[in-house]
Amino acid sequence: MKSNTTIRAKISALGSGFPDNIVTNKDLEKFVDTSDQWISERTGIRERRRLLDGENNSDIGAKAALAALESAGKTAADIDLIIGCTNTPDRWMPSMAAMVQAKIGATEKCAAYDIVTACAGWLAGMQIANAFIRSGQYENILVVGSEALTRFVNWKDRGTCVLFGDGAGAALVTRASANEKSEIIDMRVRSDGRYGDILDMPGAGSRMPTSQTVIDGGLQYIHMNGQEIFKHAVRNMTSICEEILEAHRLTINDIDWFIPHQANIRIIDAVGKKLGAPTEKVALNVHKYGNTSTATIPTCFDEYAETGKIKRGDLVLMTSFGGGLTWAGGLVRW
Ligand code: ACO
Repeated sequence: MKSNTTIRAKISALGSGFPDNIVTNKDLEKFVDTSDQWISERTGIRERRRLLDGENNSDIGAKAALAALESAGKTAADIDLIIGCTNTPDRWMPSMAAMVQAKIGATEKCAAYDIVTACAGWLAGMQIANAFIRSGQYENILVVGSEALTRFVNWKDRGTCVLFGDGAGAALVTRASANEKSEIIDMRVRSDGRYGDILDMPGAGSRMPTSQTVIDGGLQYIHMNGQEIFKHAVRNMTSICEEILEAHRLTINDIDWFIPHQANIRIIDAVGKKLGAPTEKVALNVHKYGNTSTATIPTCFDEYAETGKIKRGDLVLMTSFGGGLTWAGGLVRW
């Protein structure tokens, strides 16, 4: 979104929160009819994190939020708004963001709410944060992408359950001062609701409330047509990146880092190839965490920034895709 205001927004800091519990592909072999080789070759995933009993989405969301605050040298009292981006909240009500708010103690003046935009959720949250900062309404916004996906996979559906993991990533979005290079340049989201059925959680909503039939059919879990998702993901992630590059009169060669949604190495490779992104500029964490939906981009960004690969001033292009269908792209100067 372009704005006429002189206020600009930036990502001030990032933070991550993962459960400690690691589940490798070899571990999955013990209770899913699968193999390390099949998962590695088809997806690039080698291990993922899984919440233990008693740990919840909002716990890792709060961990990521606190890490971002600490990195920025701010406290919870500074926060005006928490945007929770999740598909797997602790409860349908209250929001995950409200639970994170309570856990980090951001109760001074803060609003908190969730948005549901599947795997494109964190970029959609960033689009809202960017607009709110530019409008002047808020000064400090936490955008928290946090997921407990292993609680929503059917361990009997081997085509789906091996793909997902639990994790959380957060960004603190603030005003950029006049002479600062860091800036959120563009955030765009697109949707096509006609294809909602190819990736969904069909039951346990108001259309099909929880019942024995829902439970027996595993309808409360994630259902997916993997091959259809693959095609739409490659096409739409590529097109939204091209649109952003063109809008800013840039080419992929101007981009320092490309952070695609970490769903699957074959989707990442296909999008990178179509865009002409050199592999050494493509940020990856899918091998370590699997698909953590709204958390893939912020956690990957955080890791690459923390380890000094992404440097302040670098131009970073991001894109994501998920159920809805929904896809998003973002361009920031870190
Ligand atoms: N282990 C072993 N074998 C398996 C597994 C498994 N975990 N899962 C499926 N198979 C078998 C199938 O039963 C099938 O066997 P058959 O030939 O005897 O019938 C065979 O492997 C091939 O199955 P396909 O579904 O055709 O496999 P495909 O090559 O399409 O790969 C995959 C499946 C990895 C899911 C692929 O379609 C994909 O990556 N899709 C994208 C989905 C995705 O990333 N979704 C995440 C959410 S959306 C997003 O974040 C972008």
